[in-house]
Amino acid sequence: MVMQAGTIQVNTKGHLEIGGCDTLELAGQYGTPLFVMDEELLRKNCRRFRNALRQYYPHGQVIFAGKAFLVLAMARILGEEGLGLDVVSGGELYTALKAEFPAERLFFHGNNKSVVELTEALDAGVGRVVVDSIMELDDIIALARENGKKVAVLLRVRPGVEAHTHEYIQTGQEDSKFGFALEKEAMEAVQRALSVPQHLQLTGFHCHIGSQIFQIEPFALAARTMIHFMALVRQQTGFVASQLNMGGGLGIRYRSSDAPPTIEAFVANLTTAVLQAAKEEDFPLPELLLEPGRAICGEAGITLYRVGVIKNIPGIRRYVSVDGGMMDNIRTALYGADYEAVLANKANREGVGNVTIAGKACESGDILIYESFLPQVEKGDLLAIFSTGAYCYAMASNYNRNPRPAVVFVRNGKGRVVVRRESYEHVAALDL
Ligand code: LLP
Repeated sequence: MVMQAGTIQVNTKGHLEIGGCDTLELAGQYGTPLFVMDEELLRKNCRRFRNALRQYYPHGQVIFAGKAFLVLAMARILGEEGLGLDVVSGGELYTALKAEFPAERLFFHGNNKSVVELTEALDAGVGRVVVDSIMELDDIIALARENGKKVAVLLRVRPGVEAHTHEYIQTGQEDSKFGFALEKEAMEAVQRALSVPQHLQLTGFHCHIGSQIFQIEPFALAARTMIHFMALVRQQTGFVASQLNMGGGLGIRYRSSDAPPTIEAFVANLTTAVLQAAKEEDFPLPELLLEPGRAICGEAGITLYRVGVIKNIPGIRRYVSVDGGMMDNIRTALYGADYEAVLANKANREGVGNVTIAGKACESGDILIYESFLPQVEKGDLLAIFSTGAYCYAMASNYNRNPRPAVVFVRNGKGRVVVRRESYEHVAALDL
């Protein structure tokens, strides 16, 4: 079955098409494995988030979480679409600045920012530093003092909300390396921040409860918790926060049967919770910041692979090996992610049975899909895995010294390489 997402369809030749481009031609032209991103869908998702937020809430900003997929071309699109950008490392910051992304729309995150990274962020003039610990707060105060700067910050707190998602991508719960615990630790951080008004401008709070979440209620609960905390801060310190960043986390469809809330339903529900809680606490509406990553770029990407060796283990399974694997998509091995695929050259043929899609890495756990229902698979077929636009290229490695794939953006029948394929020379480039 062909996943319904963006411009993906089957063309008259029975080939999978995306962005008006025949995937067989893309594979022929650019090689495999290949990341292909539907630029139209990327832009549409940015606009849906912005429009929904504008429709349901008086003032807000949508900030893309760069960790999901950040390359120069992506940063430029985000800039054009008017989004902010969350960066979590010197490398992401560098990428954003190199793409001439406006620094004032950058949010600098991370639970262990080095003094070097903080210095880079302050020199660049990032819009906000999202402070994650007391130690970091002290580092920022010292840097601001040395450089005679005033730094605008949000404090990241753990709202104690457990979202139903894989344990590795839960972040809002009590036992987490991220943020300040509510309420005592967070209150101490507020007091510390407010004590140096010449160096710090505290504008509000951030939380992020996890990722690939399908339920709305944990977000609403986190929103109520945050507003309640903001009211408590006002009561205890007199500080009235003017920004609330609710993080990312909206899930996407990895399989046709997945049914995450739409972007609009998600925003409508979350904003309702914020509006209600603010009313109950008699708290002035803060600017609302949303930080989606996966929900913007996940379904926009597919990965094309060439089928190689096929091995049948009678009564057990049929392994179909492809020319990529855990080095370009670690998510199955790491989180037990469940993807859907088609044979791009046989996209309108009926499935005949389940096969296991394996990568080419020297590791038994290098499986992309445990059960993929496909037509008769032959060596040389082109396999397309859907919904690989988030956290695949971003988490890619050179395991087994495999060069990383290229990334191609497609739109209106045209493809453009936005990241070149690595060569063997790239792989060994830094070796001495
Ligand atoms: N904001 C913050 C502070 C975050 O930590 C994250 C994700 C996001 C926003 C964006 O979350 P999203 O909307 O994409 O769910 N590698 C994992 C996902 C890790 C997410 C980490 N933080 C995966 O492949 O599923």
